[in-house]
Amino acid sequence: MKVAVLGAAGGIGQPLSMILKNQLPAGSSLSLYDVAPFTPGVAKDLSHIPTDVCVAGYCGDDLSKALEGADVVVIPAGVARKPGMTRDDLFNVNASIVANLVRNCAKVCPKACICIITNPVNSTVPLAAEVLKSEGVYDKHRLFGVTALDVLRSETFLGEELGQSKLATQVPVIGGHSGTTILPLLSQVVGAECISADRVKELTTRIQNAGTEVVEAKAGAGSATLSMAAAGARFALKVVKGLAGEPGVYEYGFTEGGSEYTSFFAQKLVFGKNGWEKVCPIGTLSAYEQECLNALIPELNGNIKKGVDFAAKWIAENK
Ligand code: LMR
Repeated sequence: MKVAVLGAAGGIGQPLSMILKNQLPAGSSLSLYDVAPFTPGVAKDLSHIPTDVCVAGYCGDDLSKALEGADVVVIPAGVARKPGMTRDDLFNVNASIVANLVRNCAKVCPKACICIITNPVNSTVPLAAEVLKSEGVYDKHRLFGVTALDVLRSETFLGEELGQSKLATQVPVIGGHSGTTILPLLSQVVGAECISADRVKELTTRIQNAGTEVVEAKAGAGSATLSMAAAGARFALKVVKGLAGEPGVYEYGFTEGGSEYTSFFAQKLVFGKNGWEKVCPIGTLSAYEQECLNALIPELNGNIKKGVDFAAKWIAENK
């Protein structure tokens, strides 16, 4: 299995690559690409960790070499938020970065599963789909937005709330990956019946604003990198397991999965040899969750349209 990380020398890319170096199955290879000239040095550094995963680093014009034969591509490239910014404020810079990287994937590794971390995910994933369509290689089963950090945070906060191991806490999180489009379904968490309605609202708001909590705590030095790396690695490793034929592997992710709410929607995905093979129903919602779901649909639709509209313009201007 070959996994390529695009944006590998950055704040998310480096720890993400380290987790992959330590946890990919023996015999896999890891390909690191970044515009930063020291990227081969990051690969050299990682290569000294004694696991049976080969690492190579590429920079500058070497993107094609980095992508050759890739089964999975993880994209954390792009700029991060500063206090006072929303994820959507990153769109103008990050949209063309994603468009360009995804077009290269389409040309060099058209069958790869592409996992996008670059924000705003609600827009960059639909944008990527349009770029892949324009190259004639779009397969909705192989394109994902990584929303797993919302799940990790929910597991942490609910585990704390219930006084139980975070590792034993499972929380479905659907919708998108920004503000109120992030919808944790706390009514479905085992043991959460004891949490009052007011507290459920507080926890939901905390999960929705958790990215901002990190942005503010870092006070201008960026957004979540380490927890995002953990989320990106957890997601990519599950995609790898699915491709390798391991049964019953699932994670929440943002994809064009035939949701009845919006064309792209974060939901529970079951992975297989060709990417996601099944999306699972969202289950029964509480009245509060249903209200939140109804309210997020127009915003998420607007985010999706923004990505699609940008792609049309970008494709026309970059033939
Ligand atoms: C996060 O959820 O932490 C990331 O999407 C980064 C951000 O800007 O919040």
